[in-house]
Amino acid sequence: MQRSLTTPQTTSLGKLQSWSLIRSGLTGETTNGIFRVQVYGTNTLRITITRASTFEDFSYAVVSGPEPAEFHIAEQPDHLVVKTPAVTAIIRKDPVRFVFVSADGRVINEDDAAFGTCWNGEQVTTYKKLQSGERFIGLGEKTGPLDRRGAGYTNWNTDAFAFSTGQDPLYCSIPFYMGIHSELVYGIFFDNTHKSFFNFGASNNRFSSFAADAGEMDYYFMYDHSVGQIINHYTQLTGRIELPPRWSIGYQQCRYSYYPEKEVLTLAQTFRDKNIPADVIVLDIHYMDNYKIFTWSRKDFPNPKRLVEELRELGFRVVIMCDPGIKVEEGYKAYDDGIKSNAFLKYPDGTPYSGQVWPGWCHFPDFTNPETRQWWQEQFAETIELGVEGFWNDMNEIATWGQMLPENIELSFEGNGATMRRGRNVYGFQMARSTYEGTKALLNGKRPFNLTRSGFAGVQRYGAVWTGDNVAYDEHMMLGTRMVSCMGMSGVAFCGYDIGGFVGEASSRLFARWLSIGAFSPFFRAHTMINSRDSEPWAYGEEVEQISRNYIRFRYQLLPYIYSLFYDAATTGMPLQRSLAINYTHNPRIYEGTFQNQYLFGPAFLVIPVESDKEFVKAYLPEGTWFSLYNGQTYAGNAEYILECPLRRLPVFVKAGAIVPMQPVVQNTDVAQELLILHIYIGADGSFTYYDDDGSTFNYQAGNHARRDISYSANQRKLTLGAVSGSFQSSVSNIKLVFHGLGTSVETITVNGKPTGLSPEMNSFFSALEKFDPFYDPEPAPAEAVHSATMSNESHAITITW
Ligand code: NOJ
Repeated sequence: MQRSLTTPQTTSLGKLQSWSLIRSGLTGETTNGIFRVQVYGTNTLRITITRASTFEDFSYAVVSGPEPAEFHIAEQPDHLVVKTPAVTAIIRKDPVRFVFVSADGRVINEDDAAFGTCWNGEQVTTYKKLQSGERFIGLGEKTGPLDRRGAGYTNWNTDAFAFSTGQDPLYCSIPFYMGIHSELVYGIFFDNTHKSFFNFGASNNRFSSFAADAGEMDYYFMYDHSVGQIINHYTQLTGRIELPPRWSIGYQQCRYSYYPEKEVLTLAQTFRDKNIPADVIVLDIHYMDNYKIFTWSRKDFPNPKRLVEELRELGFRVVIMCDPGIKVEEGYKAYDDGIKSNAFLKYPDGTPYSGQVWPGWCHFPDFTNPETRQWWQEQFAETIELGVEGFWNDMNEIATWGQMLPENIELSFEGNGATMRRGRNVYGFQMARSTYEGTKALLNGKRPFNLTRSGFAGVQRYGAVWTGDNVAYDEHMMLGTRMVSCMGMSGVAFCGYDIGGFVGEASSRLFARWLSIGAFSPFFRAHTMINSRDSEPWAYGEEVEQISRNYIRFRYQLLPYIYSLFYDAATTGMPLQRSLAINYTHNPRIYEGTFQNQYLFGPAFLVIPVESDKEFVKAYLPEGTWFSLYNGQTYAGNAEYILECPLRRLPVFVKAGAIVPMQPVVQNTDVAQELLILHIYIGADGSFTYYDDDGSTFNYQAGNHARRDISYSANQRKLTLGAVSGSFQSSVSNIKLVFHGLGTSVETITVNGKPTGLSPEMNSFFSALEKFDPFYDPEPAPAEAVHSATMSNESHAITITW
């Protein structure tokens, strides 16, 4: 039998000495430390291990405690058992090691028998036996491949300007991953905010491991039948997004920086003149007076309130940059106030920490102190008065010139006390929290839009995350799609990248391609660096302008679908952008080569990201039948295809069985719709929950929404729109049904038993490009023969058959 491992350098959790029952599980003492197993739900077990005499039980990430669940505990001569209907933890006694087994007796995950949980100095590591063929997915904002087997990563939030496509660590830390083997999938969330290390069989062929520089070994083990279920359990623990304001899911135009106000207004007007839908102009650091947060440059923005109003009249919202650094300058209100309120981070000797960033030497609020969060809220009062509803938290790793944040800076950590060794990975998270909670409290029931660069597990509760300072080249664009898919599997459903690339200058082709892909990402924003070329959809010539217009218009037509997906993310944690690993987990093809970049946008669309210089791409369509988005041609799944992908046409497919609620094109998200267009892709069963509400308040949480389950049975040739639930009065008076793939034999449908004629029509989501080049004739708009019928929108159930 394996004996407890102790060398002069390494101590592992030793032999069981005693154990006892606790309310949600058991706790035990070993020769080298104590441990606890808690049942957090049928599918979730929490394991805590420490050498201290008690468990600490403090978490920024986890927001829900143990849920009532059935479980049994038993003792055998050489092990203990904690068993729920879904998963069994076997706890070996000598030495204490953990093995997780499924209800049908298969080993899901087990400690390395010798190492288990070990201490190496202060560092604590749990070693897991590598299972045959085991893959690893998740871990949040990381570069690298979809399957992380063979790689190792560090979590240490870092300002990673112009990061390379293999760089690690970046801005956000999410110590959560999923393991996949033998048709099984499990999740592990390591709730420790110190610098942490994940090894998925890197430089060794024996174990996967997770380690932290200090603190407890505190992890949640989740087991269920699918990746989607595991994400559901993980977001049950760490929280889900709140619905963002609808305007924030429209197109956002950003640069570092748009100023003065005349340029901002001209920019907004140009979108309207050119009929390119958009909702947001983002103001980067130059709106401020010498980069001082909570001030405005009176030279460039003499009347910000009027500017915000004029933009509103044009149908635009403003998002403003919020940096944490407060300039050390007497007479500057935020500084004076911060000193008076004792708001700033300090060294152990009680002097405030100063670091240099845009405004010069700055102090930084301690967002881990509830009083400072309240102070931060108060600073926003004037900004809210101006009508600003969007906030962008940046530089919150903390980024300072020199990039060597002293580790002896102290934080409140909710009164527990900590240094940056424990606090750095949550600083940005708590800044995002402060901005979100603060502005939410001031906005009188309206939803703020909040964006952050740095974060930790659970950051999704406080807004969206973008992937920081990417670079204008194809490989980065492809990496961005993987990063957003991966963030989606790590709880962050509202995520995006800088379209066009922040650093460097995109070629025309790159911008067009990036924008087309970005239209199918949750957070849809173009951004570029100071001193770079103009980078608006019209800045790259007429062809790119038309391509951009086409894809932005398509995004706006898709709003009812996308908004419904946000609702799904808010209620189940299921991300909008879905790596194929979510639905096709055990299919090895989806991890191969460029196929790993492909993803589903909601349940309906299969997006094939492709580089800007390619005219052809090899794609893998997973099982099922797929319609071309452009001409409706069908493709059999579980097959590889070489597809044409001219710049004007990103390869996108729609799954047979998809139900896609859409609307006519609008120029911004505020325009209320009378017509809902329901696209039904014939051939396989499907379902979709359509969701709507006022798009701007939290009244939905009290039931002021309209929710409708829609399902389609291919065999019964039947579409069912369930009765609308919720009290929201939608503006939709008519529903147009558009059938794809119905063929010509069906001419009539019945709507609640009443025969209704179908009309054939040509459907085209995209306009043809104009002829710019005398030598080149653009093809006509791709179109698909479909059948449609329009009916009035009734809130009771509607059954349609054919
Ligand atoms: C760094 C951010 O990542 C970038 O998006 C922004 O433009 C600059 N800071 C300037 O505020």
